[in-house]
Amino acid sequence: MKLFKSTIAVLALASAALFAAAGCAEAATYARCSSRPAGDWPIEPEAYVKRNCSFCHGPAVEGRYVAPRLAGQHADYVATQMLRLRDKTRDNPFSRKHMGYAAAETLPGNDCEIGHYLASLPAQPANDGVEALVGQGEEIFKRGIPEDNIPACQFCHGPQGQGIGVFPRLSGQSYYYLRRRLGEWVEGYSAVAAHMPAISKKLSPEQVDAVTSYLSFQQ
Ligand code: HEC
Ligand code: HEC
Repeated sequence: MKLFKSTIAVLALASAALFAAAGCAEAATYARCSSRPAGDWPIEPEAYVKRNCSFCHGPAVEGRYVAPRLAGQHADYVATQMLRLRDKTRDNPFSRKHMGYAAAETLPGNDCEIGHYLASLPAQPANDGVEALVGQGEEIFKRGIPEDNIPACQFCHGPQGQGIGVFPRLSGQSYYYLRRRLGEWVEGYSAVAAHMPAISKKLSPEQVDAVTSYLSFQQ
């Protein structure tokens, strides 16, 4: 069983890397929503989200306290995270504490329908980063830090941080949330995520502050 699991992990990593390099959407560990517009079980996504998600994520799912903005996030990314939150491979403390119930109660067959609805909502920027760090952050986002072997974030997250498919939208996401996510990868949580654990470990806390500040102000 152990061998089986690690073989899958290796295959998943290999396909995720290939996926990023090829810029197309095909990888076993990722949810694909393009071919599944409707849920397996009839729900009305707007009412479902209002009833089950808004309490924490905010009335327009624009993010609140420790819960990130979901409005404008991509369906493939949302559905992939719902899988990980459900099987607890996304195992960081905030996810375990706050998302366990909502993920377990949402039927997997409805992840894409919810994701498509969330993706259709306008993504307002949180504007909560440190303004003085925006210039430095933009540099890291657009060019990376070649001497430290840190790739440009825009390579995967898009020139405006708008994301695509399983590459999440980062633009306008809350500074506190983005900073925490990068920090938790350094601590070893959610190791199943592609690319980001390795990238996070190379960034200094100051570089993390800068790039996440920049992102929080992007439309
Ligand atoms: C009890 C509060 C709570 C409820 C209810 C809740 N969430 Fe969350 N959610 C959170 C928190 C807090 C996080 C951030 C977890 C972290 O820091 O990793 C989160 C994270 C997420 C993420 C990951 C976002 C990302 O950018 O990676 C998704 C997707 C998500 N929630 C979807 C939902 C959906 C869909 C519902 C309703 C069915 C829902 N949540 C209900 C608190 C909640
Ligand atoms: C090689 C592609 C790649 C590069 C380069 C990259 N990322 Fe990512 N990033 C991803 C992928 C894929 C995910 C989704 C990870 C997962 O959960 O599987 C992600 C997720 C994230 C998240 C989590 C967002 C959320 O909603 O929870 C943050 C924050 C992030 N990246 C920041 C950065 C920053 C900052 C840089 C540049 C220093 C960067 N990324 C460079 C591929 C990349």
